This record gives sequence, structure tokens and C-alpha cells, in this order.
Amino acid sequence: MSDVEPLFPAPCSEPPAPSSSPLADEVRTGLQKTPKRLSSRFFYDAEGSRLFQEIMHAPEYYLTRSEYEILDAHKADYLKQFTPDGRPFELVELGAGDGLKTKILLGFFADKNADFTYAPVDISVDALDELVVDLRQKWPDLRLNPRHDDYFNALEQLSEESDARRVVLFLGSNIGNFSPDDALDFYRQLHNRLQPGDLVLTGFDLQKHPAVIHAAYNDRQGLTRAFNLNLLRRINQELDANFDLAAFDHYEVYNPETGEARSYLVSQKAQTVQIAALDMTVPFQYGEIIHTEISRKFTRAQIEQLAQQTGFSLVGWFTDCKGYFADVVFER
Ligand SMILES: C[S@@+](CC[C@H](N)C(=O)[O-])C[C@H]1O[C@@H](n2cnc3c(N)ncnc32)[C@H](O)[C@@H]1O
Repeated sequence: MSDVEPLFPAPCSEPPAPSSSPLADEVRTGLQKTPKRLSSRFFYDAEGSRLFQEIMHAPEYYLTRSEYEILDAHKADYLKQFTPDGRPFELVELGAGDGLKTKILLGFFADKNADFTYAPVDISVDALDELVVDLRQKWPDLRLNPRHDDYFNALEQLSEESDARRVVLFLGSNIGNFSPDDALDFYRQLHNRLQPGDLVLTGFDLQKHPAVIHAAYNDRQGLTRAFNLNLLRRINQELDANFDLAAFDHYEVYNPETGEARSYLVSQKAQTVQIAALDMTVPFQYGEIIHTEISRKFTRAQIEQLAQQTGFSLVGWFTDCKGYFADVVFER
């Protein structure tokens, strides 16, 4: 064997670069904050989307039933509002999920031979793939334009001129996950991207007896608990972390003065978690929280003010029989 240095010596071995992905960025910054926080947009991996589908059927989770009732009772009103003259329209749904309630509209519109394209947008590839397979099976002739993307990127794509009227669906109280400033910013962006006459149909969860709201995020089957803890399981799986799920608890609080339901994960003991892909060690005190979700509840006055502050006109207000939920139409 020669002891001459090889011409091309093997490169020095370097530690692998820490991961970079939206989840990695969120975990890196969010778990260094005080209090610690992680955005609810990361709930929806395959298991999170599956758990959310179960939550929608939980007896305490009135939101889905209320919105289902509204869309079913008013599907003909919506069609009339979306296309009074039979003109084609594009139905863009932000955060479509499994489309459980949207399918009421799609089925009715298809029966009425409405001329429309459905463009669901979701950050969860699992939810979107499942939705597309189901829609192709149910309505093979439906014009579909799915997009795996964040709401905000999808909004930027709306800027291109379109001949068809745009109708943006933002159902399921997704708007409740935004802070008041982010909600204003979101509708201002929508206003900039849409053309005069375009519509936005938003599902708002309304303020009601606090006990009803509190129960919706504390179902007896423990589905919301599992959904919240699934975020830690996802971090273990995708970022090679060692969160012990049994050492964290789900805690939710509703403040009727602010209309905010907040979900937390609580460390049940002093502990240290390693996140190998980020080369990060995260200490937790006993009782320390990670804030994971905000679900805001609205009054009619707040919704009217939101429309007014962002340049929209409120042209449709539909609620369920209990007055728990409102599906509201804004016109650009
Ligand atoms: C609470 S679920 C509601 C689903 C559906 N709109 C409904 O009413 O049943 C929220 C959905 O929005 C998606 N989502 C959350 N944040 C998002 C974001 N920033 N961009 C795109 N989709 C998002 C999630 O993946 C999930 O499918």
C-alpha cells in the first residue's frame, strides 16, 4: 500500500446541516420564545387531519353541525348570490380540509348545472389528496384546480386577471385562528387581490354561553387532547425529537371578555427535550406551557366592523337555528 497522499482526499466529515422546513423554522423559533408557542397550522399532518375529522363528529364540537345546517338550508341562496345571471364562477376554498361541508354546495351546484371551477387550497397534502380523490369519484365532471399551498401564497396567485367571478370560501371558523391584526391584514390582502363584485364567504363562530365553547375544545372522548398532543408526535417523527407525550397535558381556556379560546400543552414535570434534527435542547419547568392555538369567537358588530375596515360590503348573513355560527358573505 502506498503512503502517498491521495490526490483527492476524502472531504472532512461535517455534522449534517440542521433541518430547514416550515416546521423546523417554527419549532426553532417558537420553542425559544417566552411563553413557548407553536402555530396551529402545523396540526395537520396525516394523523392530525384524521383526528380533526373525528373531532368534527364529536357531540361537543357544535361548529361543524351548525355550519352544515347553514350551508344545507341556504345552498340555493348561495348559488343565487354567487351567480345571479348564470355567469361562470371560480370557487376558491382556503384551508379546504376534507371538504365535508363544501360538498353540500358542490353537489347542489352540480345538480343545477352551474358553470364553475372548484379550487381547494390546503397546506396539508394528506387532506388535499384525500379530498381530490373523493371529489373525482363523486363528480367526475367537476372542474377541479387543487393547490397544495399556504393561504397567503395562494392569495398572491389570485392577482392574475380572471374572466370568471371569484368566490373565496373560508369556512370552519379558520378565521378564528388569526389575531385581530392578522385578520385585518388577511381581508385587506383579499381586497387587493379580488376584483369588484367578487365575493368572500366566511364561517365565523359566534360568541355564546362560555360553557358551550369550553366544552367544544374539551370533548369527553379526548379527541382534542389527542389532536393537540399530536403536534409533539409530529415533531418527534419529522425532526427526530424525543417528546414524551405522557409527560404533557392538554389545557384549554375560554375568556368570554376577549372571545378567545386558547389551547396549550402543559409540561407535567421539569424535563429536557432533545430535537436532534435542529441540534436543539429544550428545557421545560413543571407546569410550563406551549401555546398552540387561538380560536376567536365573534360578535355581529365585530364582523360588520371587519368588513367596513377592510373595504368590503356585508351582503349576506346566514346563521343556524341556535345562532351559534354565521356564514357571512362579503362583496369586494
Ligand atoms: C379547522 S380545519 C377546517 C377545514 C374546513 N375548512 C372545514 O371547515 O371543515 C383547517 C384546515 O385548514 C388548513 N390550514 C391551516 N392553516 C393553513 C394555511 N396557513 N394555509 C393553508 N391551509 C391551512 C389545515 O390543513 C386544515 O385542513
